[in-house]
Amino acid sequence: MVIVFNLTSGGIGVTPMIAMAHELHKNGADFELHYSCSKKADAGFLEDFDAFPWMDKVSFYFSDQNTRADLDQVLSAYQQGSHVYACGPDRYMTSVMEAAERAGFTDDERHVEYFNVPEVPDYVNHPFTLKLARTGRELEVPAEKSATDVLAENGIPIDIKCSDGICGVCKCGLVSGEVEHRDFVLSKKQREEAVILCQSRAAEAGGVVEVDL
Ligand code: FES
Repeated sequence: MVIVFNLTSGGIGVTPMIAMAHELHKNGADFELHYSCSKKADAGFLEDFDAFPWMDKVSFYFSDQNTRADLDQVLSAYQQGSHVYACGPDRYMTSVMEAAERAGFTDDERHVEYFNVPEVPDYVNHPFTLKLARTGRELEVPAEKSATDVLAENGIPIDIKCSDGICGVCKCGLVSGEVEHRDFVLSKKQREEAVILCQSRAAEAGGVVEVDL
């Protein structure tokens, strides 16, 4: 069972969830899509849903029609191995993730999909060393550059898409080192073994982060 949430105030937020639902349907996966919006008139792509072959898996909730989603109730169908994905404004995604945690979804079974960059803390960049585990090579990452910048300059280009720590494309295996994880994609557990190279840095100035490259 995969539960896909789309909590949006309308517009672009629903787009990734529709794409995900198409893919799940194609693969014969068991899923539900829960689409919430404060005003029905603002809900994006509503007219398209009728044509989707997985329309029977969709539930709509509109606050202005008094059909707000009861997250605890929706997520109470949790079974081990289920996953929940949410896309929408930060506070909605937080509510879904909190309800999912209460329902029993583990850290690795809760996922958020950002369509804009969330507010970030006032991080201070320090220089650090990026060690490449496969060759033992060490690259110095200055305060004003990212690990992906330095890798590209040294002929080791890493695929990047958002450069904001929200898409996960630049994820790399973490071998050792204390990391200040600045991404919005990895779970706590994933952070033990992976790092998002476009944003994350050594936790301390002059620290060494060894990656699986
Ligand atoms: S490029 Fe998107 S998270 Fe790094």
